[in-house]
Amino acid sequence: MCGIIGYTGGRPAAPLLLAGLQKLEYRGYDSAGIALLAPEGIRLVKNAGHEGVMALELLAGKIGALPEASAGIGHTRWATHGRPTDINAHPHLDASGEFAIAHNGIIENYVSLRARLRAEGYVFRSETDSEVVAHLLALHYSGDLAEALRGALAEIEGSFALIVMSSRHPGQLAAARRNAPLIVGVGAEGEFFIASDIPAVLKETRDIYVLEDGEMVVATRGGVCFTDFAGNSRPKTVTRVTWDAAAAEKAGYDHFMLKEIDEQPQALRDTLSGRVAKSGAIDLGIAADFFADVDRVAFVGCGTAYHACLIGRELLEQWARFPAETAIASEFRYRQPLVDERTLVVAVSQSGETADTLAALREAKKEGARVLAVTNVVGSTVAREADEVLFTWAGPEIAVASTKAYTTQLEIMALLSMFLAARAGRLATERSAALLKELRSLPAKIEDILARKEQLRGLAAGLSDSSSAFFIGRGLDWAVALEGALKLKEISYIHAEAYAAGELKHGTLALVTKETPVIAVATQRALYEKTLSNVEEVKAREGRVLAVTRAENKELAAAADEVFFLPPVSDDLAPIITVVPLQLIAYYAAVRRGNHVDKPRNLAKTVTTE
Ligand code: G6P
Repeated sequence: MCGIIGYTGGRPAAPLLLAGLQKLEYRGYDSAGIALLAPEGIRLVKNAGHEGVMALELLAGKIGALPEASAGIGHTRWATHGRPTDINAHPHLDASGEFAIAHNGIIENYVSLRARLRAEGYVFRSETDSEVVAHLLALHYSGDLAEALRGALAEIEGSFALIVMSSRHPGQLAAARRNAPLIVGVGAEGEFFIASDIPAVLKETRDIYVLEDGEMVVATRGGVCFTDFAGNSRPKTVTRVTWDAAAAEKAGYDHFMLKEIDEQPQALRDTLSGRVAKSGAIDLGIAADFFADVDRVAFVGCGTAYHACLIGRELLEQWARFPAETAIASEFRYRQPLVDERTLVVAVSQSGETADTLAALREAKKEGARVLAVTNVVGSTVAREADEVLFTWAGPEIAVASTKAYTTQLEIMALLSMFLAARAGRLATERSAALLKELRSLPAKIEDILARKEQLRGLAAGLSDSSSAFFIGRGLDWAVALEGALKLKEISYIHAEAYAAGELKHGTLALVTKETPVIAVATQRALYEKTLSNVEEVKAREGRVLAVTRAENKELAAAADEVFFLPPVSDDLAPIITVVPLQLIAYYAAVRRGNHVDKPRNLAKTVTTE
């Protein structure tokens, strides 16, 4: 999500930090800042972007006014908690101005920590979760910066890559990681860089130490010292990075899309974080009366976001027995939809800037509906104009074909549906607890799928020469099939269509020959026999079937030409993992065809035209 960098050495820090941050620009960011350890104390410049001028450009204009210093930290922010404003930009200082921090990740328990620190007299300046760390450092400090950091780490829950410094320790940086990347770059004599990403330091050094989860580092001009959070020393060896700058931006991946597919377990963990209270109740951070008297829900979105809406509607209907509809935003806005002040419109958009989704949101508001946005971009237009927002915390998504935004949107759909079902008295506590337990287990299940990429690469090879492919499924599987077909057509340019499996015989079956791959998605137990029959229909026309299904579905596995087994999963939450093999099949088919995977022809990441 955010980019962080630190420097200690003999050269002026500010231009080095700025140059490092500029190398992280490709990841997307909204604000930037630098704090320097100057002889007279910590000096700070930071800002969001303003009026179309990027935050780093504004920052570059300010660093000339900073005093000379040979240590400092810098940050590019991708807002998650708190809007993209100058004050919310990192680094953050404690009240005394003696401690500065830059953070990437999410502090899950920041609400309770902030309340406690406020009660002890600490004054907060920003709306961020991260600021608590600056105050915790001050609270735990008794002469040793690393000790203070350890004290702070013992109190925080969530994910973090943190770099901290203090005016009481000139030339010293301390850093720690848990579920967020952090590296140390060894520069010229007596010079060290600490960063979230290798590109930030690649111009200065290729000699890197990689920190593992639960590790800390203290860097001074005299050297670096690695420990765990308890202070036990950790041996480390330097790795020599051989990537070029372009590969480094993708952390060594060939494409952002594959990197983002791999980031899904963490994105799902982040999106869930802080949203379940200790009692087990779902806490969406939205006042309960926002949902009062709602008697209908309409989900609207475009492209992949629309496919997430389809799942949202199904879950809400099944769990809450709530009347709900789904609409493609560009249709909804022109069809004089039946919405009124008792309608909840859920506008789903990764970017929060899609013109049709925005227009649908405005149309709904005009009719008096309540609008809840589900978006990945804090400060986006959809987020600002909606009455309430649920953010996906997937981090910046760069590949045009959406992957981690989709799975995190599905997670939000599940949480929202559970919340509304519980509110309506239709979701028993035990069922809710079981669903939450399973939501927490999904990242590991996706990791299991990701470990079987080679099989998926082979399956993709089998269909990459086809000119046309069909995806079939029923119920939630049909919704996932639609997303699988969209992924395949977007990046491989193979004509791909998804059908409700029962519809196949009403027309499309005429197109099925032995040249036609049919990807059958079958996770829904109640519909399994029916989908199996549809697969038999395809086989009778000599179509080639690739089944994505449960390990126990032996008859389907036998009927299909190829099969990919999913890890065990409940029917209702299956879509969140089922889509992953479909994403990877599309990815490997596109790579095999030599396409520009991250920037497919004719498509844009964010469509701001109607
Ligand atoms: C474009 C992108 C799709 C995306 C759609 C909606 O078509 O290429 O990947 O699903 O817009 O974007 P949004 O940002 O509103 O989710």
